[in-house]
Amino acid sequence: MAPTPPCYDHVIDLRATRNFLPDAVTPEHLAAILEAARWTGSSKNTQQWEFIVVDTPEGLEALASAGTFTRPVLNSALTVALVWPPDGYEFDIGRAAQNLMLAADALGVASCPITLHDEDRAREVLGVPAGHRCRYAVALGYPDPEAEAAERRERRAAGKTGRKPLDEVVSKGRYSG
Ligand SMILES: Cc1cc2nc3c(=O)[nH]c(=O)nc-3n(C[C@H](O)[C@H](O)[C@H](O)COP(=O)(O)O)c2cc1C
Repeated sequence: MAPTPPCYDHVIDLRATRNFLPDAVTPEHLAAILEAARWTGSSKNTQQWEFIVVDTPEGLEALASAGTFTRPVLNSALTVALVWPPDGYEFDIGRAAQNLMLAADALGVASCPITLHDEDRAREVLGVPAGHRCRYAVALGYPDPEAEAAERRERRAAGKTGRKPLDEVVSKGRYSG
């Protein structure tokens, strides 16, 4: 069966965006983005996740202090922190994050995944109970086309873009290194 072109292209074309316009994400867009995350499939349908929306300058600044490469958080209109309990699965959180980002992109809202390297700090800032994980977040906002194009040129020149060829990452039957 041939893939549905817009959907397939959408998956292939999703890029990390680090430069956002100052405009707030509309409540309708935010609700639709979170709805897509909520509908993610999870292990045994346990839905072991919580999404914390941070959209104040103070909140974003505090959250940014929990990671090393968090400039996109500071630039974002809002950032969604992803929280899962001790018996949750990182795989499920990754799926929810990707659904959230694809849904956002479909609505014209750009995104960047974020690592919260200092999870203790992230928990403290967000009031997340000990034991719960809070390692990742997604920065969101309407893209700033000019600033983003300039950054992408730089990243391309530094060899930080593109993907490994398929034959390097796919093998049949056995690990090929
Ligand atoms: C788990 C994960 C964590 C990431 N953490 C950060 C981060 O902390 N800061 C950042 O600027 N980008 C972060 N990124 C974005 C990656 O750098 C980006 O996905 C990768 O460079 C590919 O970008 P592209 O799709 O635009 O080519 C993260 C991506 C993933 C999947």
